[in-house]
Amino acid sequence: MNSNSLVSISDISKEEILQLLENARYFEENPNHKILDGKVVATLFFEPSTRTRLSFETAVNRLGGRVIGFSDASTTSSSKGETLKDTIKMVSNYVDLIVMRHYLEGAARYATEVTDTPIINAGDGAHQHPSQTMLDLYSIYKTQGTLENLTITMVGDLKYGRTVHSLLMAMQYFNPTFNFVACDELKMPAEYKEFCDQKGIKYTEHKEFSQEVINSSDIIYMTRVQRERFTDIMEYEKVKNLYNLHNAMLDNSKDNLRILHPLPRVNEIDQDVDDNPKAYYFQQAQNGLYARQAIICRALNIDIKEVQKS
Ligand code: CP
Repeated sequence: MNSNSLVSISDISKEEILQLLENARYFEENPNHKILDGKVVATLFFEPSTRTRLSFETAVNRLGGRVIGFSDASTTSSSKGETLKDTIKMVSNYVDLIVMRHYLEGAARYATEVTDTPIINAGDGAHQHPSQTMLDLYSIYKTQGTLENLTITMVGDLKYGRTVHSLLMAMQYFNPTFNFVACDELKMPAEYKEFCDQKGIKYTEHKEFSQEVINSSDIIYMTRVQRERFTDIMEYEKVKNLYNLHNAMLDNSKDNLRILHPLPRVNEIDQDVDDNPKAYYFQQAQNGLYARQAIICRALNIDIKEVQKS
């Protein structure tokens, strides 16, 4: 495995996370920097995406590199039966970095085992989404002025939502208190609660998205029910509308509260929240560009301190 790969948020240390956040701030102030001249990045998306693929591609373009790839695997030779191994080995012949999203948990880890080209996991099934976590951390830091000692309420699909799994693990360094709001069918998987127990992270589970929970939160992290992960569509129908955030529910919330959502949303945040200054999900998506510029530079061994000097 190339050690510059980013498959799980647990691949990087607290120090590296903080460095990436600092570098993201640099790119927010200086988004156009021709430091990827001559580099080619592949974006291989075996699952749909809007933000992740386009922000990675924008990041490469703004840094002066080139992008190849696909957003619809049905147009590639995987539809003829080519294995993931062969696809990765073959694309590795052409590029300096692979950004990939796949519907199978562990696909990105597997890719690192068949190539020396660095791999960035842009989401593998219900497992991990580490670049989303870096933009989430950057958004939390920008809005709260700290990552430490925050109460973070995760709402909705905590079973299949890979973004909450990655964020939970990254917060281990910052003494969070979590509220997990979900129905029985979509509650936080045992392995992540065990992770919290091992790390001494405080959490409580709730079925009701109550005013008490909302009013105690610094961050509310809403999630979409991941229809594509259900094998039985009737099960999805039963749970798809259980948690909805409306503007009036924020009337007595903390001044510093910010609403995050990895997006896309379906109906879990009413559009009447969009104009509330506590709604931060569109800026959060914008922060993805800067966080991904920082992640790409890490993957390609580009030292931002040297860039700043030039
Ligand atoms: N947050 C996120 O992963 O969005 P996309 O599925 O649009 O990439």
